[in-house]
Amino acid sequence: MKLAVIGCGYLGAVHSAAMASVGHETVGIDIDEPRIALLASGKAPFYEPGFDELLREQTGGGLLRFSTDPAAAAGASVIFLAVGTPQTEGSNAADLRYVDAAVESLLPHIDANTLIVGKSTVPVGTAARLAEKIAHTGAKLLWNPEFLREGFAVQDTLDPDRLVYGIADGDTASVEKLDDVYSSIIEKGTARIITDYPTAELVKVSANAFLATKISFINAMAEIAEQVGADVTELADAIGVDNRIGRRFLNSGLGFGGGCLPKDIRAFQARAIEVGAGESLRFLEEVDRVNLRRRERGYDLAAREADATSTKRVAVLGLSFKPNSDDVRDSAPLDIAARLHATGYSVTAYDPKARETARRLHPGLDVRDSLADAVAQADVILIGTEWSEFRELDPSSLETPAAVVIDGRNTLDREHWRAAGFKVVSLGRRTLEVEA
Ligand code: UDX
Repeated sequence: MKLAVIGCGYLGAVHSAAMASVGHETVGIDIDEPRIALLASGKAPFYEPGFDELLREQTGGGLLRFSTDPAAAAGASVIFLAVGTPQTEGSNAADLRYVDAAVESLLPHIDANTLIVGKSTVPVGTAARLAEKIAHTGAKLLWNPEFLREGFAVQDTLDPDRLVYGIADGDTASVEKLDDVYSSIIEKGTARIITDYPTAELVKVSANAFLATKISFINAMAEIAEQVGADVTELADAIGVDNRIGRRFLNSGLGFGGGCLPKDIRAFQARAIEVGAGESLRFLEEVDRVNLRRRERGYDLAAREADATSTKRVAVLGLSFKPNSDDVRDSAPLDIAARLHATGYSVTAYDPKARETARRLHPGLDVRDSLADAVAQADVILIGTEWSEFRELDPSSLETPAAVVIDGRNTLDREHWRAAGFKVVSLGRRTLEVEA
């Protein structure tokens, strides 16, 4: 089939290459010229495991191309909307200007043979509004939210947990059309839920709200554990055994960041207020607060430990918001590193993949190109992201004057670090002092 994808960020760029890989002639469209030039030359504009290879293969294979011209979508039978919906400046609401601009730009190029498939995360009610906007062209709209996780974007696109189709009343023709696009996924027996527009929109934001709540729940337990000398990791293991609760997404630490969960829970609250159900999501305000308090705690612990030394040098290991990504949007460890730097501490930082993105956002921050270099002159080491490079680190081989490690993601083998001579400070767990 002939497909177009509007928006070539994490979602759209991966979706374009993935759709080409299953045999569709696909064009990825974005207004960002340098990004499109990179993609067209087969180079990924961000780090995502497996994406580089997929992109190289597909741009070389003749089915995938990229363009900055919305007219390139003309003739496509399905056009995916994959543009960003960032937080509006000065408000919690989602900024829909890119979604609206994308749809406007398509109007001259669509007709009764076109199906527009929305994938962006939008406030409930958006699909119905967009369907009205395109109605005069005869084109149809289906809302198909995307649940991909960064770090697993390729895998999640080609082998998702479920497909959700939000359709206009009785629009089975659009369902059949999207089934054709996704036939390789559907053949695997993937769950497929067909519903209305508002439910499909809500599935996405409520899934993210639930995940964020789960993380803040365990981080709230970490706060209590800190007050009473309990251990939040052992607590998570114990409650997680109950499969009604489940152990996944119960890892306490510096909390959630990234381009999705923080802004999505805020946009969801803003929308709930608009539709007269503000009370229903008031708890998300608390979820957000608990989350931001963990960053404060991370900063305070690093500052406290550094203040106990004469040189106050902190090495921050891990700057991306999660492992296997170079994404630093709303990243807790990068925030902490920048704040330590701004408040007079000597900060050296390192990340396996997010060095360039971190430097772009915080040019003043001293980001080193190797872990060894970052810790060579540090009094305190803060683990900010649980990259395997840090989890598997042999602390006894580290050449560093640091005597303290802060386990920001509760990910280290604590006894191992203590045995190597480090005081181990954790969030929600007792401090391990060096044995005399
Ligand atoms: C999320 C959703 O998981 C995905 O389904 C949606 O489509 C987009 O948003 P992503 O932003 O890639 O995906 O990251 P995710 O794996 O959900 O992690 C979000 C944040 O939560 C990260 O900062 C991570 O470090 C943190 N986290 C995750 C925890 O602090 N504890 C956990 O137990 C799990």
